[in-house]
Amino acid sequence: MSLRKHGGGAPAGTIDFSAPRNPLGASRIALKILRESMEASTRYPDPEYRELRTAIASYYDIGSAETMILNGAAEALTLLLAAFRPRNLIVLEPTFGDHWMTAEGLGIKVVPILYSRSSEEFTLDPHVYLELPAAQKAGSMLLLSNPNNPTGHLASRKLLVQILEGIPSTSVIVVDEAFMELSDPSQSLLGMCDERLVVLRSFTKTLALPGLRVGFLHTCNDELLRKLDAVRQPWNVNAIAERMIVHMLNEYPREYFEYVDEAMRMTDLERGFLTEALEELDLTVYRSRAPFILVHHEISHPKLQGVLVKYGVYVRDASSFYSLDAHYSRISVLTREDNRKLVETFKRATEGC
Ligand SMILES: Cc1ncc(COP(=O)(O)O)c(C=O)c1O
Repeated sequence: MSLRKHGGGAPAGTIDFSAPRNPLGASRIALKILRESMEASTRYPDPEYRELRTAIASYYDIGSAETMILNGAAEALTLLLAAFRPRNLIVLEPTFGDHWMTAEGLGIKVVPILYSRSSEEFTLDPHVYLELPAAQKAGSMLLLSNPNNPTGHLASRKLLVQILEGIPSTSVIVVDEAFMELSDPSQSLLGMCDERLVVLRSFTKTLALPGLRVGFLHTCNDELLRKLDAVRQPWNVNAIAERMIVHMLNEYPREYFEYVDEAMRMTDLERGFLTEALEELDLTVYRSRAPFILVHHEISHPKLQGVLVKYGVYVRDASSFYSLDAHYSRISVLTREDNRKLVETFKRATEGC
C-alpha cells in the first residue's frame, strides 16, 4: 500500500478537479519547445545544470550560484531534510507534502502549528511560530507553502518578513512558492538574500506539465547549498526538461510571461465564478488566491466522491491533510465549461441524488 496521498488518478471518464495546476493547460509554444527538446535525451544532462541555472537566474533576476535545480518543488523537501537535518520540522498545517513520512523516515520530529481558521478563511498568525519556546525553534526548519495548498491562503510578504526576522540564526524557513506565479508574485520572497531563507518554485505547476518534473530553489545559505548538492543525485532533472526550460526562458521569455499572466487572470476569474456558485449551494468556500479552492460540505467522503464520480467529476478528498476531515474537498479551478459541470454535479450531490 502506498504511503503517499496526492491528487490525480481520476477514474476514466471523469473531469479531474483533484490535481491543482494552471487552468489554461499546457501552452502550444511550451509543447512545441518540448518536442524540439526531445533529442536531448540522447545525452546526460549537465550535472551542474549551468546553462539552466543561468537561464533561470536571468529570467527571475536572482543569482545563479544561489539557485539549485529540482525534480519539481516536491524534491526539495526530501533534500532539505536530509541536508539540514533539523532538530524539529515545524510545519504550518494543513499543508501539502509528504513531510510527515519523510521526517519519520529520517528520524526527524515534526511539530505541527496551525493556520487560524474562521468560517471564511485560513490565515497565518505569525505568533503561532514566534511564540514557540526558543529551544523548539533553535536548529529547526519552518515549512510553509505560499499560497498554501490546500487552503489557498496567500500570506503577505510583509508578514513573512516578520516571521523571517524571528527565525534563529541556527534555523531556516522554507517558503514553498509552487503556485506563486499563478497567484500574486508581488508577495514573493524569491531573490531575498538571507541565510535563513529558502524559496521553492515549480515549473510543472506554472506550465501545467506536472510530468516534466522541474523546479528550483533559491537560497543565499552557501553551506546549505553545498550540503544539498552533496545529497542530491547527479542528474536529478532529465535532459529533456533541462533543454526545454533553457530554450523557453532564453528564446521565448515574452511568450512565457504572457502565458503566465493570462493564466493568472483566468485563475482569478474562474475561482470567483466557482466560489460564488458553490456558496449559493450553501457550501463553505474558503477565500483562496491559488488555482484551487477548499470547500467544506455536510455530506462526507467517500459518499460524496461516489456521487460526483457517477456524474463525471472527481475532486480531492482533503481528509488526509492534517486537521481536516472527510467534510472537506480541494477543487482545482479549471475552464468555465468544466467549472459549470462541477457546480451542477455538486448541486445534485448536495440535493441527495
Ligand atoms: C505547495 C506545493 N508544493 C509543491 C508541489 C509539487 O510540485 P512539483 O510538481 O513541482 O513537485 C505541490 C503539488 O501540488 C504543491 O501543492
